[in-house]
Amino acid sequence: MAQSIYLGLMSGTSFDGVDGVAVQFVPGQPLQVLAASARSFEPALREALFALQTPGHNEIEREAQIANQLAHDYALTTNELLQQAALKPSQVQALGVHGQTIRHQPTLGYTRQINNPARLAELTSIDVVADFRSRDIAAGGQGAPLVCAFHAVQFGAPDETRVICNIGGISNITILAAEETTGGFDCGPGNALLDYWANLHLGTPYDTNGCFALSGKVNENLLHTLLAGHYFALPPPKSTGRELFNSAWLNIRLEKFDTLPPQDVQATLTALTAHSIARAIAQFASRCQAIYVCGGGARNPALMQMLGAALSTAGLAHATLSTTDTLGVPAQQVEACAFAWLAMRCVTRAPGNLPSVTGAAGPRVLGALYPR
Ligand SMILES: Nc1ncnc2c1ncn2[C@@H]1O[C@H](COP(=O)(O)OP(=O)(O)O)[C@@H](O)[C@H]1O
Ligand SMILES: [Mg+2]
Repeated sequence: MAQSIYLGLMSGTSFDGVDGVAVQFVPGQPLQVLAASARSFEPALREALFALQTPGHNEIEREAQIANQLAHDYALTTNELLQQAALKPSQVQALGVHGQTIRHQPTLGYTRQINNPARLAELTSIDVVADFRSRDIAAGGQGAPLVCAFHAVQFGAPDETRVICNIGGISNITILAAEETTGGFDCGPGNALLDYWANLHLGTPYDTNGCFALSGKVNENLLHTLLAGHYFALPPPKSTGRELFNSAWLNIRLEKFDTLPPQDVQATLTALTAHSIARAIAQFASRCQAIYVCGGGARNPALMQMLGAALSTAGLAHATLSTTDTLGVPAQQVEACAFAWLAMRCVTRAPGNLPSVTGAAGPRVLGALYPR
């Protein structure tokens, strides 16, 4: 592969907006970020995406309209990246765009990330690569997490057993041990339940800087009830989404705790994310020496503090905890970089999945190309 420039756009299960990067790949070197941009969704788009999470009236039409709106937002982010990096569309090999997950049902044989990639190619004059997850599912895999292969090439080290932990709406880990197969899976809810509860009680999209959680106390009985959830005990390969970890999942479990102050529930949900991650690392990567967090969860001090404590409780006091900024890629840019990398793999006809992670029958080239 010669030196090449790709763009990556990620909009995840938090429904907060789009994170984008322009990157340069030089053979044999770590990727270099040329530009980065983050764009929040308008409240109306967020609401429309939430509404599409569950079956409802006229959803095919609504999906198509929202996909067009997303393509418009993705094009604006793309233009910002081109301007920042002083690039012309013709200098970009391809744009990898994840799309917005509205269903993830690998056991039923499908996942759906909405977007209108044809429109995006038309709006940007750049080759667009989309629909990265379907091929892995067609090969019997979970279609997720897909970031692990990128984590392995970007963050793997011969002298340290590392875990990369991405805390988006859902949390996932990648286990990188020298001379061992890369492992990884979705641990459970990342920010999704925290955002739901903060929105319900504060009216804000998330618990800014974890202040609401820090004003409350973790309720051990509730934490125990939440951690007893069936998903946490499943063996990998496994992946999850808002189909499972949503307000209904939480509200059933809160029924016996209806006198708890809302800030204590927020603290306990934050502890749930922390403990589910710490337990997953303790069970599958007990020799891990360093944990590097990425995704929006890295910006929640209450969550980072509780994760540190949960790691100690789980017997991982020896492992250091920091963010991927330490490894040269800012926490907020890692997933977008992964989709630029996956686009590069598609264009060069190289596999993008790790069967050891997703459970697919073998390595597969991921994504569908929409030429400019
Ligand atoms: N300052 C902050 N304080 C607390 N939480 C934050 C902060 N900034 C971002 N977050 C959290 O990060 C989430 C977005 O993370 P992101 O990695 O984009 O997730 P996704 O990939 O699911 O879109 C927000 O919904 C919020 O929960
Ligand atoms: Mg996001």
